[in-house]
Amino acid sequence: VDGGGTWRGKAEADDGARAMFDQYHSVRRATVALCAGLSAEDQQVQSMDDVSPTKWHLAHTTWFFETFLLKPHLAGYRPLDERYSFLFNSYYEAVGPRHPRPSRGLLTRPSLEEVHAYRDHVDAQMERLIAEPGREVLALTTLGLHHEQQHQELILMDIKHVLSCNPLSPAYAAGAPARVVDTRPAGWIEVAGGLTEIGVQGDGFAFDNEGPRHKVWLEPFRIADRLVTCAEWLAFIEDGGYRKSELWLSDGWATVVAQDWQAPLYWRVRPDGWDVFTLEGLRPVDPAEPVCHVSYYEADAYARWSGARLPSEAEWEAAAAQAPQEPLALGLHPAPAGEGAGLRQMAGAAWQWTASAYASYPGYRREAGALGEYNGKFMSGQMVLRGGACVTPPGHARGTYRNFFPPAARWAFSGVRLAHDL
Ligand SMILES: [Fe+2]
Repeated sequence: VDGGGTWRGKAEADDGARAMFDQYHSVRRATVALCAGLSAEDQQVQSMDDVSPTKWHLAHTTWFFETFLLKPHLAGYRPLDERYSFLFNSYYEAVGPRHPRPSRGLLTRPSLEEVHAYRDHVDAQMERLIAEPGREVLALTTLGLHHEQQHQELILMDIKHVLSCNPLSPAYAAGAPARVVDTRPAGWIEVAGGLTEIGVQGDGFAFDNEGPRHKVWLEPFRIADRLVTCAEWLAFIEDGGYRKSELWLSDGWATVVAQDWQAPLYWRVRPDGWDVFTLEGLRPVDPAEPVCHVSYYEADAYARWSGARLPSEAEWEAAAAQAPQEPLALGLHPAPAGEGAGLRQMAGAAWQWTASAYASYPGYRREAGALGEYNGKFMSGQMVLRGGACVTPPGHARGTYRNFFPPAARWAFSGVRLAHDL
């Protein structure tokens, strides 16, 4: 973890121990609050390899602070249980061997209660460490908090999948109030293109994969002013979109056939329409809502069907940089676009698949040591998503934020924004 000091946390480093103490407890408490309505049984289940049990998330985020902060930086730190390093290491080869990901649901011990004791133990020791932090400790703690926020979104993604497997369609939480609905067709925002720059700059926190800032050339394009809606997706379904191989990438079509995809994940057909399973329970598909839980393959096929294409991540970021700030409509399910003008739903509804493969920016260098594994080693076989979702913790995502998933993944809150050449 010697490279930790070069993580972008310089501004936070000047805020001092008190601010860090408050941030630390605020984020840690928010994670526990997300789980407050879940039973111990809910928090034990792993419904597919990609999904981790809630209990594992609670422990793994704690392991992160123990491994990268307390063990190297707090003199005399004593782990609560040395074996947790094996159980709750996610993917860090440099840290050592680990329990296999697909078997996380088999960890009935430690109990949920013991995992909360683990959190308390690490929190108490983190308080000691933060009381007199050096710059590296502040930078690494900031990274640990952003890591925990990523897992807050994963907790919701994963529990949604877990609950969706129950024939009773249990809700994670009660439904949200009614929202303003915009049923206008999408508008198009023209972007002149030319030589532009993308990537992070400045002193605020960012993940390493968001930089370096660099020049890109963009041909002129236009980009949709909102996300593709469920009504539009229904038209794709009714036109046989899931049955026309010519619309699909080869790997995408193979996945459609193998997994018998006929609609987005969580859509359930009934005799007179479609329901959708949400964190607020099962309900009819709202035509004005953005479509969500579609794979890159589906986004790409839909774009081809509609005569458009997906934006590249550079196009997305260039457009976002010109867009006015909009209030976020966060919640447990993506809300319809508001009635304003201009680019809407850039954040706060659903992540947006781009046409860009997840790769390093020019000049990117992976950190030395274990934390170099955080982002850099996943730069193959995945596509970039931009924006942020309704379940993304407030303040977590940025215009330069690069999310990424394999092209067949659909359990993230992933949606579609279209683009066109001009
Ligand atoms: Fe993690």
